[in-house]
Amino acid sequence: MKIKNKKELLQTPKGMRDILPHDLLYWKAVETKAEDIARSYGFKPIRTPHVEKAELFGLTLGETSDIVEKQMYAFKTRGGDALVLRPEGTVPMMRAYFEHGMHTWPQPVMLYYSGSFFRHENPQRGRWREFGQFGVEIMGEESGLSDAYIIHVFALILQELGFKKFTVHVNTLGDKECRGEFRKELVAYYRRKVNSICRDCKRRLKENPLRLLDCKNPMCVEVRADAPQMMSYACLSCRAHFKLVLEFLDDFEIPYKIAPHLVRGLDYYSRTVFEIFADADADTKKEKADDASTETGGEKTEPQKEKEKEKENAAPIALAAGGRYDYLAEVMGDRKVPGVGGALGLDRIVDELKERKIVPFKEKAPAVFLVQIGAQAKRKSLVLFEQLRKSRFGVAQSFSRDNLRTQLDLANKLGAAYALIIGQKEALDGTVIVRDMGSGTQESVYQKKVLDHLKKKMKNS
Ligand code: HAM
Repeated sequence: MKIKNKKELLQTPKGMRDILPHDLLYWKAVETKAEDIARSYGFKPIRTPHVEKAELFGLTLGETSDIVEKQMYAFKTRGGDALVLRPEGTVPMMRAYFEHGMHTWPQPVMLYYSGSFFRHENPQRGRWREFGQFGVEIMGEESGLSDAYIIHVFALILQELGFKKFTVHVNTLGDKECRGEFRKELVAYYRRKVNSICRDCKRRLKENPLRLLDCKNPMCVEVRADAPQMMSYACLSCRAHFKLVLEFLDDFEIPYKIAPHLVRGLDYYSRTVFEIFADADADTKKEKADDASTETGGEKTEPQKEKEKEKENAAPIALAAGGRYDYLAEVMGDRKVPGVGGALGLDRIVDELKERKIVPFKEKAPAVFLVQIGAQAKRKSLVLFEQLRKSRFGVAQSFSRDNLRTQLDLANKLGAAYALIIGQKEALDGTVIVRDMGSGTQESVYQKKVLDHLKKKMKNS
């Protein structure tokens, strides 16, 4: 194959990126915190493949949802199977529930997962084509307590990571019964406004009217302001369910606001839906969450594009989202399994932490730095390095360097308490120089005795 542009070849595909070592410390810290809290709240880990059967998502997310219509990485295998890179995690969880007969496990089944998901979206701030999610799901439980439990777990994760303020936007989508009436009213309302909505929404009006409320086009956002709200049509049991969720949020002292037009982009939701936004810094991000729009529709002029870019950079983005999916199992298999869950957007959380200068990890300084000068010393110090590592000393080295000053500077920079120096002489006579990095004092110790010597020193310090 002839390579057209070598420079381009050496770049990641559009909307995807390498996570470099320093950034990975943030990722690991966020995942570790999320895992610790999820585990202590009774969730068990699960891993599912990155690839699933394509039909699975058409069936469950909705044929007219953006994900299924435009955003799936779909491909045919050599054997002719139609597969996709997973665009989200809830459907695979429910697939796994059926595949492994989890209905025979003690209910509810509570799972967490973490990994990459793929959507062919327009890359922009906080929106990647490969992105990380940490998800939790409670399957086999109908009560509103579990909806609040999920939100509570996410709130704890965000708080303990260092987010001081965030708001949960929450709404109810009702159930199959009461949503019908709402949909009728919604269609009637939007028919009256048909000349004031975007082209996509004209299509949504016919195919999937609930999605009208999710449109980010400024024209449609304006029309939405007076659109009917699901809450006014919710039946008694949906109202009671929602009330319970809100009461639990009050009990957990979670800051929330009812977002009467929140519908979410996936068709499997019923009853509770939610999104969590980190509160904007008073002076940087003042946009209303309802206008969190970045999606575009129709042709734009350059100044319009500029303005949108500015707005995009200022608008808050959801750090997490989720909701209840009581009908998902029925669509997929032969039993009813009520469920609720949510996912944290890892890319967005890491970006927000960095923007807020919150460092969710501590880089531990090594206790000992091994300095070696010359080939023979290098060999000796490799053996010593392994002995120190096995004895659980925090130990660092830079075997590729040979200069004393450079190595001591590095030991200093890393904050090592002691440097162990092996030069030509020490390599020959079996000793090592122990340098206290704080005071600069040095002493010569036999290599055989250096572990005990260090242990004593550290005990006394
Ligand atoms: P979602 O709203 O599509 O829901 O994604 C959840 C979170 O993942 C978002 O709030 C956002 O933080 C992050 N996210 C989504 N798309 C991107 C992207 N392109 N780039 C970066 N971050 C992104 C779901 O996926 C549902 N499965 C959540 C759920 C679990 N509902 C019930 N259980």
